[in-house]
This record gives sequence, C-alpha cells and structure tokens, in this order.
Amino acid sequence: MSPFQVTRTLPEDATDAALRVDVLRGLTAQPKTLPPKWFYDAHGSELFDRITELPEYYPTRAEREILLARSGEIAAATGARTLVELGSGSSDKTRHLLDALIGMHTYVPVDVSESALTGAGQALIAERPGLNVHALIADFTDTLTLPDTPGPRLLAFLGGTIGNLLPVERAAFLASVRSLLFPGDALLLGTDLVKDEQVLVRAYDDAAGVTAAFNKNVLAVVNRELGADFEPAAFDHVALWDAENEWIEMRLRSLTAQTVKIPVLDLAVDFAAEEELRTEVSAKFRKEGVRSELAAAGLELTHWWTDTEGRFALSLSTVR
Ligand SMILES: C[S@@+](CC[C@H](N)C(=O)[O-])C[C@H]1O[C@@H](n2cnc3c(N)ncnc32)[C@H](O)[C@@H]1O
Repeated sequence: MSPFQVTRTLPEDATDAALRVDVLRGLTAQPKTLPPKWFYDAHGSELFDRITELPEYYPTRAEREILLARSGEIAAATGARTLVELGSGSSDKTRHLLDALIGMHTYVPVDVSESALTGAGQALIAERPGLNVHALIADFTDTLTLPDTPGPRLLAFLGGTIGNLLPVERAAFLASVRSLLFPGDALLLGTDLVKDEQVLVRAYDDAAGVTAAFNKNVLAVVNRELGADFEPAAFDHVALWDAENEWIEMRLRSLTAQTVKIPVLDLAVDFAAEEELRTEVSAKFRKEGVRSELAAAGLELTHWWTDTEGRFALSLSTVR
C-alpha cells in the first residue's frame, strides 16, 4: 500500500451544498455572518501560511516554542503510534511532534483544504521514509470516521483553531472528539490565552495587510463558487476585541450601501453603509476555562504548558 493515502469523507458536491447553506443562512441573518472554514481554498491556505510568519502573529511562534520544548514529554506521556491532527494545514509545527514520537505508525491529517493536505502529505512521506500518511478531506465538526490504525492515538488540535468555534459549538465538538478516543488515547490542544488587547488586535490586523487579504478571500470564494459579485475593495477589514466574550472578531465592513447578487442562490443581499459581516471569532482562553470545558466533555487535563512569555498554552488530556 502507498505510504500516502487521501480519503474524501464527503462527496465533492457536498462541500458545495454546505457552502450554499452557510451563505444563505449567514447572509440573510442579522447580523450577517459567514463561517471561517470558507477562508481556506488554496489561496486562503497560502495566505494563512504567510500570516504565521508575520511579526505580529505570535501564536505560531509561541506554540512552536512549546512543541520544541515539550514534544519529548508528550511522546513519553502518550506513547502514541497514530497521530491524528484536526485542521492540520501545512503540518509544519507537527514535525516537532513527529520527530519525538518514536514508533509512530500513521499520521492522519484532517482538513477541509485539499491543497494543504496534499502538499503537506507528499512532503512528509518524502522526508520520513517509513511514515504512513492517511489524509482525510473532512470537516472536523462533522462525525469523523478515522482509519483503522494502531493505538494509542494522540489527537492533536493545534494553532488555537478551537477558538474559531462558538462556545456551544466547542462543547459539541469536544464531546465528539471524546467519542473518538479510547482509554489510553490523548488529546493535545493548542489554546491562545487572554492577554493585552493591543497585542491581540495587532495579531489580526497586521501592518502588511496579509490578514485583511485573508479575510477578504472568503468573498472571492463565494464569487467563484456561487457566481456572486462581491467587490472585495468595497469592504474594509476589521479586527476587534470583545472583552465580554474574550474573543477577537474579524469582520468585513461595507464601505457604502450596496447590493450583492448571488445568482446560484437566487439571492440579492443588501448591505447598509458601514454594515459589518462577521467572518471569524477567535476565542482566547484561561487555564480553568479549558479544564472545565474538557471535563464537561469527559476529558481530564493532565498537563498544561505555556511558552516562556505565557501567551499560548498546549494542554494534554486523557479519557476520564
Ligand atoms: C488557523 S489554521 C491552523 C493551521 C495549523 N493547524 C496551524 O496550527 O498552523 C486552521 C486550519 O483548519 C482548517 N479548517 C478550518 N475549519 C475547518 C473545518 N471545519 N474542518 C476541517 N478543517 C478546517 C483550515 O483549512 C486550516 O488549515
């Protein structure tokens, strides 16, 4: 069998159907919203990789620092032979874990971005003879069917991506993650931490405008896939801190009153001048909150590591 396999868990037209449902629901709601998973076509995935290198975007560097320092401990604590990674993207930081996980049998990256999965999977098998990579093109909020591979399994969810789910979605997501784990398996979760507002806002509104381009890419995706006539230049990128919910919101603000047509949905969407469309929330966490959300899903936090500046945390939890 080839060391690199790709499984599409949804038919291709299901992705299209899901986009239609999300766009119809989100753009007819008040306030208007779109889910962040639609940022990540091939261009959006590339833009995200550029974001991870920006001076303002500290989460990737902070999480890498923790992985470099703690992967040995993670390997010793889990003895994992299968590493499943949700929202794996370029799998770049994952290499530190793979370096430490001696006896690793199969890496299972899971992502909606086929281009990111293919690029990462091909690079990994070329770099690491003996490693099997079984990529899943899937939505990690759906019920996942994992390939039959040797345990114990370590399920990693890095990058702070869990913060893109709303609290009620996080509870359902963690419960479904728990249902994928057997006794002896573990969850490695990356969470960005609450910190100074300016540092947070800058991380989502960089001087070079890469995050603005990433945010507007969702409009290009809707234009291409659903024939819409969004004019990205007619929207401003907005990043703001919601202190009550302790999350960053990314929005697109309509510069003028305008009507956007989406022929595939037979829909005309009116935007008032200055009206905002929410495209992402990115929740920031505290240790006790993470512990209690894990506990509510039947998981027990066993390890909590932060970078030296205390900006980002990685936690390990096991089935209770
Ligand atoms: C913020 S990026 C993080 C990438 C990488 N894990 C890191 O730490 O740099 C989020 C990743 O999750 C993927 N993603 C977002 N929503 C998803 C969903 N609902 N199901 C599967 N993958 C998703 C994106 O394509 C992207 O690769």
